[in-house]
Amino acid sequence: MAIGPSHEAEDPRVKVLKKEWFEGKDCLDIGCNSGVITIQIAKKFNCKSILGLDIDSGLIEDAFWYLRKFTKTESAGKKQAKDTSVKAVQEGNSSEQSTTALSNEGPNESLSHHSSGERNLSDIVTFRRENFVQSHRPHEKCYDTILCLSVAKWIHLNWGDDGLITLFSKIWKLLHPGGVFILEPQPWESYEKNRKVSETASNNYRSIMFRPEHFQDILLDKIGFRKVEDITSGLSGTRAGFDRPIFAFYK
Ligand SMILES: C[S@@+](CC[C@H](N)C(=O)[O-])C[C@H]1O[C@@H](n2cnc3c(N)ncnc32)[C@H](O)[C@@H]1O
Repeated sequence: MAIGPSHEAEDPRVKVLKKEWFEGKDCLDIGCNSGVITIQIAKKFNCKSILGLDIDSGLIEDAFWYLRKFTKTESAGKKQAKDTSVKAVQEGNSSEQSTTALSNEGPNESLSHHSSGERNLSDIVTFRRENFVQSHRPHEKCYDTILCLSVAKWIHLNWGDDGLITLFSKIWKLLHPGGVFILEPQPWESYEKNRKVSETASNNYRSIMFRPEHFQDILLDKIGFRKVEDITSGLSGTRAGFDRPIFAFYK
């Protein structure tokens, strides 16, 4: 399991996401891998909830491990901040009365109003193993925002054009009206590199009709999204290093 300090650096793709798509929103991350971006988004934008799905149970185990690690680090940080501010309050209140009031109340209670409303990451983020294309397991709710970053190629190579259309149609159904679908498609040239991963992928590669350059038309004209925005336009070739565009489709 390769979970190390590099996972704690913010993924450059998170930088181009808009707060309004996530803050206080119910979100879904399809193909979440080890959950690093899912957790970064939850933490940065304070989602109401975010569910990360992945077909690979080992990756979902990694994601839960990473979430526990992150939650522990966060709680330790909060406790340290609390202890420091209790100490500062106690040192600042030299009168006997205020010291007595504090000691009666106890440090946790006296400062609890500072943290009320703050939620732990583990209350916000959850993960589950699911093959998004083939699963019939119902989702408990609809979402405001659905992410599909660097996943479409794998679904396309494994389940062909039918799989891709199932992916897009399911996302459409699971989004609230006004919701946003964030898609980072992989370019056709990268399909070629991976076409030999299995016989199924090779066969699908040969029969694919819907190339990534058609995805926008499919999503707008066939699936029914209202409009699309290239959220990385102007960033390609810059130091931010986006070699692939990321699109936001609005339902
Ligand atoms: C290249 S990784 C992308 C990970 C992450 N979204 C990112 O951009 O860093 C693709 C992920 O999609 C997952 N995946 C592929 N097919 C899937 C499916 N049908 N349902 C759910 N996850 C799938 C893979 O297991 C893998 O973790």
